[in-house]
Amino acid sequence: MGGFHRKGLTLRVFVLGGTGLIGTAVVRELVGRGHELFGLARSPASAARLDHIGVTSFPGDIRSPEPWLARLPPCDAVIHMACDFATDMGAIDRHLLDRMLPVLAAQKRRPRFIYTGGCWLFGATGDELATEATPFCPLPVFAWMVPQLHRVLASPGIGGIVIHPAMVYAGEGGVFDRFARAAAAGEAVPVVASEAVRWPLVHAEDLAQLYALALERGTPGESYIGAAIDGLAIGRIARAFARQHLTGHEAPQIVTVDAIAAELGEWARGYALDQRLSGDKARRELGWSPRHLDPEGEIGVGGPP
Ligand SMILES: NC(=O)c1ccc[n+]([C@@H]2O[C@H](COP(=O)([O-])OP(=O)(O)OC[C@H]3O[C@@H](n4cnc5c(N)ncnc54)[C@H](OP(=O)(O)O)[C@@H]3O)[C@@H](O)[C@H]2O)c1
Repeated sequence: MGGFHRKGLTLRVFVLGGTGLIGTAVVRELVGRGHELFGLARSPASAARLDHIGVTSFPGDIRSPEPWLARLPPCDAVIHMACDFATDMGAIDRHLLDRMLPVLAAQKRRPRFIYTGGCWLFGATGDELATEATPFCPLPVFAWMVPQLHRVLASPGIGGIVIHPAMVYAGEGGVFDRFARAAAAGEAVPVVASEAVRWPLVHAEDLAQLYALALERGTPGESYIGAAIDGLAIGRIARAFARQHLTGHEAPQIVTVDAIAAELGEWARGYALDQRLSGDKARRELGWSPRHLDPEGEIGVGGPP
């Protein structure tokens, strides 16, 4: 374990994407651990959301980093969880790192830099259990992330760490959101490709604990997969929501991959990947202890987990 953080010491952390699904949980966890946070906000609404959870807002947009990087105060760490899911998201991220990494490397104290990868970089694993050592086979629309994360891990001026979140769910939003909305409307729950497709899963609160541990104890140059559940057949989740809302049609509605890509964008092809990912390294090396291990059961006891 790296000795970056001594217990009781406050870290000054700059977050990108602190208002997102992952980011909101991460900033809550870090504020709760007593760290001092400031976060990029591209709009007054995002600034207000950050301020509300005790994060000082710092106006700026990842599409044009130059103006805000020029006034970036020193920090102990940066956590990058921002993504604009536009067709040019790869170019935006490349430009961002081109500009940000030299600024961070020029700071007196080598800052820790946590970069967010993703489970969809591992492709369809089938029955194989992918680990951090498994070669990438990215969903084409996210292939740009692979050279980016290698760059973060190898950059000498920062302490680069990568976290690969599994499919993230939470009470509001997250990858179960479409299931919950359809079931609440009394409709058949839509499932992409097949009920048998397995998703590695993690609750946003558990993932937030992993980011905090990586920040405080992670080893620069290392990657950690944030999967609390290796892979769960998604039909089971769809059926649990249908039962919870008494929709009267427990069998899901199968949506083709092309249809979901046409509706949401090319990135949504990831919903059809049958995957199994291991979170063992994070458990073993960082002491990660995810608490939400039975999403199906949590849906069953009333309300999305
Ligand atoms: N969700 C998952 O299941 C999952 C799984 C694996 C990997 N990931 C990866 O994790 C990252 C975050 O995912 P997420 O689900 O948390 O996304 P999200 O909920 O859509 O949040 C995106 C965040 O990025 C910010 N952002 C977007 N465009 C921006 C811009 N131009 N300038 C400044 N900030 C901007 C958003 O701010 P606003 O509040 O202003 O919109 C928001 O805070 C992505 O790279 C994603 O690929 C996600």
